[in-house]
Amino acid sequence: MLRRPMLALSTRTGVRDAVTAAPLTGRVVERFIAGETLHDAVTAVGRLHDAGLAVSLDHLGENTVDRAGADATVQAYLDLLDGLAVAGLVGDAEVSVKLSAVGGSLPVGPDAPSGGAAVARENARRIAAAAYGRGARMTLDMEDHRTVDDTLETLAVVRRDHPDVGVAVQAMLRRTPGDLAALTGPGSRVRLVKGAYDEPDDVAFTERAEVDLAYVRCLQLLMAGRGYSMVGSHDPRIIDIAGRLAADHHRPPARWEHQMLFGIRADEQRRLVAQGRRVRVYVPYGTDWYGYFMRRLAERPANLAFFLRSMVGG
Ligand code: FDA
Repeated sequence: MLRRPMLALSTRTGVRDAVTAAPLTGRVVERFIAGETLHDAVTAVGRLHDAGLAVSLDHLGENTVDRAGADATVQAYLDLLDGLAVAGLVGDAEVSVKLSAVGGSLPVGPDAPSGGAAVARENARRIAAAAYGRGARMTLDMEDHRTVDDTLETLAVVRRDHPDVGVAVQAMLRRTPGDLAALTGPGSRVRLVKGAYDEPDDVAFTERAEVDLAYVRCLQLLMAGRGYSMVGSHDPRIIDIAGRLAADHHRPPARWEHQMLFGIRADEQRRLVAQGRRVRVYVPYGTDWYGYFMRRLAERPANLAFFLRSMVGG
C-alpha cells in the first residue's frame, strides 16, 4: 500500500534535501549503504571478500543534471577500480552502473549536443574499459521502463569491446520475456530482478503475486538459456526455485550466481556460500543515497517504521 507513495517521494528533490540533512538518519541508512567514501567501500568489500562473497559496487547517484556531474561519476568509478586494485580486491569484482548517473537523462543542449543517451554510452564505454583493463567486470543497472531501450542499445555498444558486460532486467515489465530471448545467448550475463520502480499497469505487473509469477517465468528462460545467470532476489521461494532450475538445466555452480543487496538477508548470503553457491553482494556507497534508500524503504514497510522512529529520536 505504501510502495507507490514512497516511490513517488524517492524522486522529490525537496524531500531528499530535508531527509539527507536530518542528523538522525545515519544509523538506518548505514544498514543499506556501505558508507559515503571510497575508503568505506573498499573496507566493506574486504569484509565481504573474507566471508567468501563477491561484490558489485554501485557509486550512488542517478538522474545527473549536468555534464560535470556525469563526469564526476565516471571519475568516481575509475578511482574505485584503482582503489580495489591497490587493495588486491579487483579480481571477481564488478561495478554496477546506472546510465542516468553518467549522463543518460541529460536533455539535448550544450552539455549533450547529441542527447543524454550518447553521453551515457560514451561514459559507459570508459568505465567498461577501466573495469576490464583491471580484471573486473561491469553490469548495467536497469532504471524505469522508459530507459530500457536506451540501456539495451548501450549494452550492445559496450559489448562490442567487452562481450560479457552484464545487464539487469526487471521481471515486472511485461516486455522482459521478449528481451530475454535476445539476451540469453552464450557468454551473456543477465541479472534478473523483480523491479524497483513505480510503473504503470500497461507496461508492468503491479500486484506482488503477479510479479512473483512473472519472475519465475523469466527465471525459467534465463536458466534454460546459454548465458551466465544472476539471480537478483532475497525472496526465499525464488532462491529455492533457482537452485532447482539450475539442477534441472545441469548448470554447475560456476555458471550462475545469487545476488543480494548489501545489508539485506546477510545471514542467508553466508548460508548459501556455505552450501557452495556463488553469491554476489551489491554494495552501494557514496553521498547521493536518497533515491536508493527510498526504494529500499518502499520494498518493506517495516523499514519505514524503523526509519521514522530514528527521525523522531527513537
Ligand atoms: P521481495 O521484495 O519479495 O523480498 C523478499 C524478502 O527479502 C523479504 O521478505 C525480506 O525478507 C527481504 N527484503 C527484500 N527487500 C528488502 C528490503 N528493502 N529491506 C529488508 N528486507 C528486504 N531493481 C531494479 O529495478 N533495477 C536494478 O538494476 C536492480 N538491481 C538489483 C541488484 C541486486 C543485486 C538486487 C538483489 C536487486 C536489485 N534491484 C534492482 C531491486 C529489485 O528489483 C527488488 O526491488 C528487490 O530485490 C526486492 O525484491 P526481492 O526479489 O528481494 O523480493
